[in-house]
Amino acid sequence: MTEAASSDFEPKILGFLCNWCSYAGADLAGVSRIQYPPNAKIIRVMCSARIDPVFVIEGLLSGIDGVIITGCHLGDCHYQTGNYHTQRRFDALMEALSHTSIGNERIHLEWVSASEGKRFGEVITDFTNHIKELGPNPMNSSDGADDAMTELRAVKRLFETHSTRTLIGKEEELVEKGNVYGDKLELAGYKELIRKNIEAEYIRSYILELSRSRPKTVKECADKLRIPTKRVIFEISVLMRNNMLALESMDGTTPKFQSLVKDGDA
Ligand code: FES
Repeated sequence: MTEAASSDFEPKILGFLCNWCSYAGADLAGVSRIQYPPNAKIIRVMCSARIDPVFVIEGLLSGIDGVIITGCHLGDCHYQTGNYHTQRRFDALMEALSHTSIGNERIHLEWVSASEGKRFGEVITDFTNHIKELGPNPMNSSDGADDAMTELRAVKRLFETHSTRTLIGKEEELVEKGNVYGDKLELAGYKELIRKNIEAEYIRSYILELSRSRPKTVKECADKLRIPTKRVIFEISVLMRNNMLALESMDGTTPKFQSLVKDGDA
């Protein structure tokens, strides 16, 4: 058990359940009187593909300790390919959260069918115990909340960017159908493209979030992101070219930069 976790910690868990399989599985668990922890607050959606990564981050920003998404097994989605989209978005969310100090262990994706009432109870029990082990969301601690908020807001921003949303939604087109010239990407190449996009967008989004209220130096950004200053300078130049960041002042010979973006800009 981590230091932060305590035996009386009862995590707040948010569960997104697809109507056709997982919610029916939860129903079956209920009528079968299967016992599982009451920590999860359930939101029913018509398909797991309805879950935007932004919803998950909003949950973590509001202090939820863990978020679980459940849907129909692959191949059983009532909208054919909805859960394949869910899997892609979830993988991208895991990748993005891996750049933060919060990490990606507070989110989980599981396929549960309507006939798996017992399994639904086990999935919720296992996830609740896992979050108990992890301890409270840093957003709920007095000393780590500011850093956690900056990181989560950066992840939220990156999932609002056009490039990330487009890339994640284009796997079929880029890998299976190819572009207008018939050129296709290898799946491994596509995944590497997504990974690089997420890394770059996370760094840019983090710089924008960090410099929202007070201008920051390159070194301050690099120290927080734990990356070389050279990389920060490169991403700052991209942000300045796109009118999202400005040189605000000079501290001696050291430039300080400030975000120009407002809430809702992506
Ligand atoms: Fe259940 Fe799509 S309808 S995942």
